[in-house]
Amino acid sequence: MANEKRPVAFVTGASMGIGYELARELAGHQYDLFLVARSRDLLEEHKTRFEKEFGVRVVTAAMDLSERVSWENVYQQAREEFGFVDIVVNNAGFGLCAPFGEADLATFLNMIDLNISALTALTHHFLHDMLAAGRGKILNVASVAGFFPGPYMAVYYATKAYVVNFSLALNYEVKSRGVLVSALCPGPTRTHFGERAGLQDSLLFTLMASTPSAVARAAYRGLMRNRTLIVPGLLNKLSVLTARIAPRSLAMGVISWMQLKKLNS
Ligand SMILES: NC(=O)c1ccc[n+]([C@@H]2O[C@H](COP(=O)([O-])OP(=O)(O)OC[C@H]3O[C@@H](n4cnc5c(N)ncnc54)[C@H](OP(=O)(O)O)[C@@H]3O)[C@@H](O)[C@H]2O)c1
Repeated sequence: MANEKRPVAFVTGASMGIGYELARELAGHQYDLFLVARSRDLLEEHKTRFEKEFGVRVVTAAMDLSERVSWENVYQQAREEFGFVDIVVNNAGFGLCAPFGEADLATFLNMIDLNISALTALTHHFLHDMLAAGRGKILNVASVAGFFPGPYMAVYYATKAYVVNFSLALNYEVKSRGVLVSALCPGPTRTHFGERAGLQDSLLFTLMASTPSAVARAAYRGLMRNRTLIVPGLLNKLSVLTARIAPRSLAMGVISWMQLKKLNS
């Protein structure tokens, strides 16, 4: 049964990886949860676990967020279940490492639908309620990639540049009205992302990847401190700094080498 006093968090891409760990972190801090992803069975498993372990209420919605119709639907479902949502985490996303001209266009358009359009639509829907209430936090999961042009992952890096700039600009618009919009910028992290993107054996992931639980802890801490830009880990902070000072062509050379190079080749 819903406990009126508990705050509510809405998390997309909560079936695994960073989204799962963020959901776990929020449940551990006594947030009721609305969890979204495509994998119904995984979401149900998490619901059972979180309800038992943390005593919070969890509602799940198995949906493909790259489909336009799902954005309004899932927002309405969350509202019906919980009324006001205190924290929205737009985390669902994926990447692909492949030469742009040789890979399937449909995959890139699907990536834009999920990484950009779904995030924008959900932010718009929930922001409306937050502005009316004069409170609320939106955490948009971007990436260190959002600070660089990324050869062989050109579309993915560009989607994350959108998320960084959209979140910072929007935060500027709404910060005086009690609402925080924050961009979480992890670097390589050991999740299914690397496998789906074809990066799991790359130098970048083998040498630099951190754990999704460390990212989630940093994200929660940053959000509670009202940080607009959350970059977990020293190495990632240095990468963001590098993006500001290094020549672009040099940065692109290093990035593409680290993405394409396998550790033992
Ligand atoms: N891992 C990294 O190195 C890294 C670094 C920087 C930023 N990020 C960002 O962090 C976010 C989470 O990625 P992750 O590393 O945790 O990857 P992950 O383990 O692959 O998790 C991605 C999550 O998104 C969900 N998802 C994917 N496509 C979806 C769709 N069409 N509709 C609804 N849900 C969908 C997945 O669930 P289902 O498959 O069940 O739908 C899963 O829960 C992404 O935005 C990613 O770009 C990751």
